[in-house]
Amino acid sequence: MSTALKDVKRITTHVLMQMKNEGKKITMLTGYDYSMAKILDDAGIDIILVGDSASNVMAGHETTLPITLDQMIYHAQSVVRGVTKALVVVDLPFGSYQSNPGKALESAVRIMKESGAHAVKLEGGQEIIEAVYKIIASGIPVMGHLGLMPQSIYKYGTYSVRAKEEDEANKLISDAKLLQKAGCFGIVLEKIPSTLATQVAQSLEIPVIGIGAGNGCDGQVLVSHDLLGITKDFNPRFLRRYADLYTVIKESVENYIEDVRSSDFPNEKEQY
Ligand code: KIV
Repeated sequence: MSTALKDVKRITTHVLMQMKNEGKKITMLTGYDYSMAKILDDAGIDIILVGDSASNVMAGHETTLPITLDQMIYHAQSVVRGVTKALVVVDLPFGSYQSNPGKALESAVRIMKESGAHAVKLEGGQEIIEAVYKIIASGIPVMGHLGLMPQSIYKYGTYSVRAKEEDEANKLISDAKLLQKAGCFGIVLEKIPSTLATQVAQSLEIPVIGIGAGNGCDGQVLVSHDLLGITKDFNPRFLRRYADLYTVIKESVENYIEDVRSSDFPNEKEQY
């Protein structure tokens, strides 16, 4: 008998499958550090993605390409320490899996062994399918990522909507099927037309998580810094901001500066 979802103590890949089968939407956000991971986990998020978007929002790089495997492992270790329930998925960074399946497996094993995370995510379909088979054969759960794949930004040239043309849409559908056949437990679809994403989600048995892919997916993912309004200059149509933490933090720091400069802080109650 399957466990009722409300009794679930830990989100596993099996729970995610059960959620899809029961029509329960899956929630996923990025996390890169202990404190944020703890808040996301306490709030009840299903999946925390230690995304290579850490390269942008944590390290200030223009693209996701520079972040290293060691740096991803450091972020993943910090996130895992803050989590008691969510499934922690870690991006394999650019250059750590594309060259050959053996290298891909070594990178995935390092992430699992050194961070304690629960799964890895790779960008691509048919081009990396042997790597996906090899990693899954070793017992490591794999999530796919199709559509806009930021690690290939210099191939595309822009971050615009992908798979609008029939050829690219057909390749995406066939890649999604290949990833499912290889044993992926889920797939992220980034920035593609919602009709295509819905078609993929309805035709696959595994959960499809969208970002800029519309409401027909089995779940949604956003970069937490974007959702919280810590980043300011990134305003794609698909992003809903739930807070303006940039302003909250900036005003708090300005108030602190003023209080220190005017000798208002610390007051008598704030000293020994
Ligand atoms: O790295 C990341 O944040 C991602 C999400 C955009 C899905 O891959």
